[in-house]
Amino acid sequence: MNTMTASTAPFAPPLLAAEPDRTAFRDYAQPGIERVRTFYRNNHQNQTFDFVSGKKARWLAFAQREMTPWDALDFLNTLVDESDPDIELPQISHLLQTAEAIRADGHPDWFVLTGFIHDLGKVLCLFGEPQWAVVGDTFPVGCRFSDRIVYPEFFELNPDSRDARYNTEYGIYSPGCGLDAVQMSWGHDEYLYHLLKGQLPEPALYMIRYHSFYPWHREGQYGHLTNAQDEANLQWVRKFNAYDLYSKNARPPVLAELKPYYDDLMAKYLPASLKL
Ligand SMILES: [Fe+2]
Ligand SMILES: [Fe+2]
Repeated sequence: MNTMTASTAPFAPPLLAAEPDRTAFRDYAQPGIERVRTFYRNNHQNQTFDFVSGKKARWLAFAQREMTPWDALDFLNTLVDESDPDIELPQISHLLQTAEAIRADGHPDWFVLTGFIHDLGKVLCLFGEPQWAVVGDTFPVGCRFSDRIVYPEFFELNPDSRDARYNTEYGIYSPGCGLDAVQMSWGHDEYLYHLLKGQLPEPALYMIRYHSFYPWHREGQYGHLTNAQDEANLQWVRKFNAYDLYSKNARPPVLAELKPYYDDLMAKYLPASLKL
């Protein structure tokens, strides 16, 4: 929810010129919260280490179908993200607003493209995955769940909380092992990272892979598992988060006017067809 006045201008003046009320974002106490609570009950109960391993085996084979990036983005317009207390916006509007805000601040083109595609992994919903296994905040599995994860009380329902292999501070991991060695709860972030790794610069891949990892980039948790590479990239994840979160405003840029620019960006960095 935001308090900005809607503008009919396509995307100028710059999207962040008028400051939204930042205290109003991610407010889990607002009406509609029951939907979000139910979402996170399902998520926290079911995201076990074994669950994630199974999802990786299934989805990281990328054996479903081929789609162009634009077709995948078009699909996202049919999705309303149940985990998000802030917006009823079509996904592509969120992506375009995020990207245009990044562009308005003069960032490199790969950063703009990252803004435009960062939620593309939500196409998993197209393949019948429940939303609690696609969207929402992410966290490590295989070690103790932080009490700074949203709705931590629901982890009592997760069998890993009672599994001696997984319920200690380090669980199956070693100090400073690095996030690449840490299995994250399953969702659109991890899926899109694997789909695009090798295509974009390292900071972009960190933004994609960890943009929902609020326990790390906002709450400062899990520092006992990160390494120097993670710490160097944390600033990029945080920089990205400001656009992901606070570009959700009521001043929609017009996709038709901007499509040629994003066509060029996609041609520069992405394959013509994505194996999903
Ligand atoms: Fe996302
Ligand atoms: Fe997003």
